[in-house]
Amino acid sequence: MLGTRGGWQALRRCASLPQAVRLRVSEALGARESGGEVKVQGWVRSVRSQKEILFLHINDGSSLEHLQVVADPSLENRDLTFGSAVEVRGKLVKSPHRRQNMELRAESIRVVGACDTWTFPLKMKERHPLEYVRQFPHLRCRSNTLASLLRIRSEATAAIHSFFQDNGYVHIHTPIITSNDCEGAGELFQIETSNEAKEKTHFFNVPAFLTVSGQLHLEVMAGAFTRVFTFGPTFRAEDSQSRRHLAEFYMVEAELSFTESLQDIMQVMEDLFKTVTSTVLSKCPHDVELFHKYIAPAQKGRLEQILKHKFVTISYNEAVEILKQASQTFTFKPEWGCDLQTEHEKYLVKHCGEVPVFVINYPYDLKPFYMRDNEDGPQHTVAAVDLLVPGVGELCGGSLREERLPFLESRLQRLKIADAYQWYLDLRKYGSVPHGGFGMGFERYLQYILGVANIKDVIPFPRFSHSCLL
Ligand code: 4AD
Ligand code: MG
Repeated sequence: MLGTRGGWQALRRCASLPQAVRLRVSEALGARESGGEVKVQGWVRSVRSQKEILFLHINDGSSLEHLQVVADPSLENRDLTFGSAVEVRGKLVKSPHRRQNMELRAESIRVVGACDTWTFPLKMKERHPLEYVRQFPHLRCRSNTLASLLRIRSEATAAIHSFFQDNGYVHIHTPIITSNDCEGAGELFQIETSNEAKEKTHFFNVPAFLTVSGQLHLEVMAGAFTRVFTFGPTFRAEDSQSRRHLAEFYMVEAELSFTESLQDIMQVMEDLFKTVTSTVLSKCPHDVELFHKYIAPAQKGRLEQILKHKFVTISYNEAVEILKQASQTFTFKPEWGCDLQTEHEKYLVKHCGEVPVFVINYPYDLKPFYMRDNEDGPQHTVAAVDLLVPGVGELCGGSLREERLPFLESRLQRLKIADAYQWYLDLRKYGSVPHGGFGMGFERYLQYILGVANIKDVIPFPRFSHSCLL
């Protein structure tokens, strides 16, 4: 009877709705049985009007799947269009369709906010490419792909926190405004007040920058806690427009004290990657599937394999030998002492079977001041590690830290920065212990597991994310 006009009208007459329970779309879809009156709020993803029946699909961001609403055509109104915001009251019933569990039989539909479908850049039932929606940073979260990405990003964030909390790490909020340049690469955004240029003074009396890494602050904490981590915004003023660089990104960093072996640090990197990825795959299967179906079709199988096997490790020396013996000609000739370029990283992961590869023990002069001298020759190599992954390149960077006061002091003096780092030297004077840690780029992590080519497509707001502003 419900399919007929008379049936709907009778249902509406006897409806008393003030106590309707508010459900999210995901809750409505997962309901076990039909119940009392419910209220669902969301945005219309499709409208299909037939003679006897009106079908709507609504979504509120709680799941990739939309909730089907079935209504009497008399409930249709001019503003009930694709993209409009609605509140639907009615009863949840078992859906006769095989592909969905429940549907909502509407008793009332209120358009909360209309949407001008002529000018709205997203169109009903179209699969918009990532490049297209990137033009509308303020509207793209309403597309399926970006909504899935943002749910995955949220789950991965929670999984990272759980991983560390479950393993006894203390979470530290490291500062965003700092006076140090941890990586020593000078890729800093300097902070000034808007009238600083006029007054020619620094707000903090010293030059201040947006942080490039929380590591040095974590090292402070590693003098009192044996395991600490931070996960926050990080800024790099690199003049790069590549598909894997952002000006503002999130970095996960961990620091472990009483650790003498680089292998221990690598083990944490691998465990973090595998635990977080398994959690994301099991908690957001449909969202991840969307990427693995439409954006990177072979990625699912590859990830499953990677989760089963141990990551490969090669030394920097071996990496250079592999590159030198390659039949491929590189734009940058591989030489011992030179940094690995993107083309080299790509070749190395391919050579190792398109799997994550740890490269360890880099030349001393290539790496920042805080890395531990391996003492395999006069300032020859340091206990550094980079984790390279297919399609993205460097995902993590870490090292043992130089905990020996004389070594660190002389390196800082040679670099003429010993005065600024007296506090850092203090850490080596008072209860210094062997320690080490690493940082993982969160966006590069998402790029890799989802197979997304451009890093701008894994962040919520791309406006100031890049040196080329969209
Ligand atoms: O290798 P990086 O520079 O290491 C550090 O900053 C260390 N202080 C971390 C530590 O040991 N606590 O950066 C770590 C990771 C890189 O491997 C990369 O994944 C990511 O941060 N990253 C970027 N991601 C996006 N855009 C950029 N511009 C990035 N620069 C680094
Ligand atoms: Mg690095």
